This record gives sequence, structure tokens and C-alpha cells, in this order.
Amino acid sequence: MSRFEVRKAVIPAAGLGTRFLPATKASPKEMLPLVDKPLIQYAVEEAVASGIEDIIIITGRGKRAIEDHFDRSVELEENLKGSGKAQLLNQMRHISSLANFCYVRQSEALGLGHAVLCAQRLIGDEPFAVILGDEIIDAPVPGLAQLIHVYKKRQGAVLGVQEVPHHDVNRYGIVAPRTIATGLHRVEGLIEKPAPAEAPSNLAVIGRYVLPPEIFSILRKTKPGKNGEIQLTDALLELAKKSPMFALEIQGQRYDAGDKLGFLIATVEFALKNPSLGPEFSDYLKNRPQPFGERRTTRSRKA
Ligand code: G1P
Repeated sequence: MSRFEVRKAVIPAAGLGTRFLPATKASPKEMLPLVDKPLIQYAVEEAVASGIEDIIIITGRGKRAIEDHFDRSVELEENLKGSGKAQLLNQMRHISSLANFCYVRQSEALGLGHAVLCAQRLIGDEPFAVILGDEIIDAPVPGLAQLIHVYKKRQGAVLGVQEVPHHDVNRYGIVAPRTIATGLHRVEGLIEKPAPAEAPSNLAVIGRYVLPPEIFSILRKTKPGKNGEIQLTDALLELAKKSPMFALEIQGQRYDAGDKLGFLIATVEFALKNPSLGPEFSDYLKNRPQPFGERRTTRSRKA
């Protein structure tokens, strides 16, 4: 195996999902369904389509549904077999055979950097990917595969970025770039959620990373930063001072599905693209009847 083969991915899933309350009060936000699959399955499928074999999910209290989702469900399988639903049965079996799944519990929500550090023992001394499942990337070449391609060629950490509106920079890690090719930059600086006036660019890190194992020793020493959390961004800045780091503009449509509006937009777009639902859903949207309340108001105004 080459030293630059990326076989493992970490998916942090211990967050409290406060942006999506009350839906996430007792259910993991990672299990919110985007049309008919939970969000985290999109992240896993992107990883697998990018050549990842081992998926390490960082979980916490109240996240058991994630483990159950990627496990076999013997009772359900028996039921589907008995009722002759072979296609559905195969789909269910496929989910648990997507990859090798490992789970690590993060007992306290100390930040993204700390969540990634929890995977150190399972990653060992090899490069690995990090995927944040809130960010859904719809692309002909999977977002993570685009990063891995650059990692193998350049042999330095690679962050997936996209341009965001300037007033939104305070929601992301922002890169200070030096452009070296179309859509590819050397990372000269990084700042977590800066105020627009302090942002070095509008290139935002969008939840896809390929990192060398050296990041772990840095994470161990990283002090709490923005919002009192151990920030992956702060550790990445230290790494960038020691070795080359790249920011690749990912080609594809990105949805922030961890946010209520972003989730709704993603739902509409994925539903329209869905072969069995799309045509009817599109008809519905085009000929959408006026909602009951609005109809009544209109009539009473005329009266
Ligand atoms: C995290 C990272 C941030 C990154 C963002 C992408 O922030 O800390 O650097 O830009 O994910 O979604 P969070 O959204 O978890 O607050």
C-alpha cells in the first residue's frame, strides 16, 4: 500500500444539532431524512464512492439510531423476505455492507478538533479523510474523491472549499489563499468564523478534509478557541505552518443540510431528481394549489 493511499474516513456525529431544534431534541440530526435516506448515509456513500473502506463515526449520547442504521436488521429482513419484497431487502442489506463501520464515543462535546482526535487510535499512522455530514455535496465526481486526487499528487493536506457570500464568512473556516492553479490554492492562513471585516477571502471550508496523521499531535496541544471549543481549524493552521496545505474548490452543488432552510432546499432538489418521485413532485410544485388558509383570506377580502 502506498503511503498516500486514503482508506479511512472520520465522520463526526456527536454534535447536539441545536440549529435544528426541536426535531433534534431526542433524535440525531444525522438521521434526518433527505427524501428517503438519512443525511449520514449520503456522507458514507460519498466516502465509499471515493475509495474509503473504513468509516469511523464519532458518536455521543442519544445517537444509537446511527449504529442501528448501518447494522443488519434481522427482523426487518425476515419480514421483507416473507412478503416477497426482494428489491427492498437487497437495498437494506446493502446499507450494512457499504463499509467497515467503527464507533467511538465522544463523551463531551468539546469541539470538532476534539471529535477528530477521538479517532486517533483507529486511524493510526496513515492519512485519513474527514467528512462533515451536514454538508451534502452533489457532484458527478464525489467531493471527497476530488480531494483525494489532489492529495496523492501534491502530498499535503487538502481542504475542500467553495466561495460563499461575503456576509456568510462568519459561519465557516475561511482560508487565506495563494492561487497556484485553477481552483487550487496554497493555504497561507486559516481563521475560524471570522467577522466579514477580518476575513482573508470568501473561500470557506465546506466539511471535506484529507489530513496526514501529524494532525493528531497538534490537536493534542490545541487549546479551546472560537466558542470555547477545540477547533480543527486552529490545528490546521499549525499544520500549515509546518507542511504544505492545499485548498481545492470542490466542483459540485453544496447544500448546508444542517440548517433548516438549507435542508428544505436540499429536500426539494433531491426530490425533483429522484426518478420515482421527481415527475409527480415537479407537477405538484408547478400546479401547487393555494393553501387552505390563504384561499379563505382571499375570499373573505373580496366579500
Ligand atoms: C465546522 C468547521 C468550519 C467549517 C464548517 C463547514 O463548523 O469548524 O471550519 O467551515 O464546519 O460546515 P460548524 O458548522 O460545525 O460550526
